[in-house]
Amino acid sequence: MAETNDILPELPPDAFQKQDQGDDANFYAPARLVSHIDEAATRALTAYYRLTLRAGDTLLDLMSSWISHLPPEMDFAEVIGHGMNAEELSANPRLTRSFVQDLNRSPVLQLESGSCDAAMCCVGVQYLQRPLEVFAEVFRVLRPGAPFIVSFSNRCFPTKAVAIWRSLDDHGHAALVRLYLEHTGFHDISTEILRNGSQSDPLIAVLGSAEVLLRARRTTFHYLQRRQQNRKLFFPQT
Ligand SMILES: C[S@@+](CC[C@H](N)C(=O)[O-])C[C@H]1O[C@@H](n2cnc3c(N)ncnc32)[C@H](O)[C@@H]1O
Repeated sequence: MAETNDILPELPPDAFQKQDQGDDANFYAPARLVSHIDEAATRALTAYYRLTLRAGDTLLDLMSSWISHLPPEMDFAEVIGHGMNAEELSANPRLTRSFVQDLNRSPVLQLESGSCDAAMCCVGVQYLQRPLEVFAEVFRVLRPGAPFIVSFSNRCFPTKAVAIWRSLDDHGHAALVRLYLEHTGFHDISTEILRNGSQSDPLIAVLGSAEVLLRARRTTFHYLQRRQQNRKLFFPQT
């Protein structure tokens, strides 16, 4: 049997290695005021946010930059940005405050428990080397029942993406994000293909709900069954 990863036994042992092991702070030091997904994918994400976010709420935009893709007509109490580059974050017109923090070094969010009504992470999850710690922190800062929307495309900085991400296709990426959400207590997880990639960048959103009361519903049987399915996906050679 193949060796396993201690944190997520479903995954290979080197799952969270990156080709570029240099400091993320150096890599993200120059501001990149560019679009990471094309216009059609951006429009699809904005439309999805229109359906899933509530005006007046407090939002956490994790792995943020100069654009948050929020519907322009919707006002929010707060949009808290979290990223790696102060210049990018200060250029983001939707953010009311922001934190610069390397989540691979320090996954603890400097936010009160239950203080956010929704969290989003757009095209950043592939860079997380400690995803369960980060997702658990997002769960902590969300109020019960609040959504965490993780969206991704097929583009990335390959040398900074973790090995497991580079080895998977869109389907595998969705399963991986679902795995992170399930392991950190999120419920009612759904996957939406917002753009299928035929005429624009692909864009997929996986949404989980931070529902504390439903946590006990996850039975050992269900957990073991999913773990077996996941092993087939993440270890195709066995
Ligand atoms: C491709 S950009 C996406 C930015 C923005 N969410 C968007 O949709 O345009 C990925 C972002 O992930 C963030 N990021 C990458 N590595 C990180 C790390 N180790 N800790 C925290 N954030 C990180 C960077 O701030 C970077 O802006």
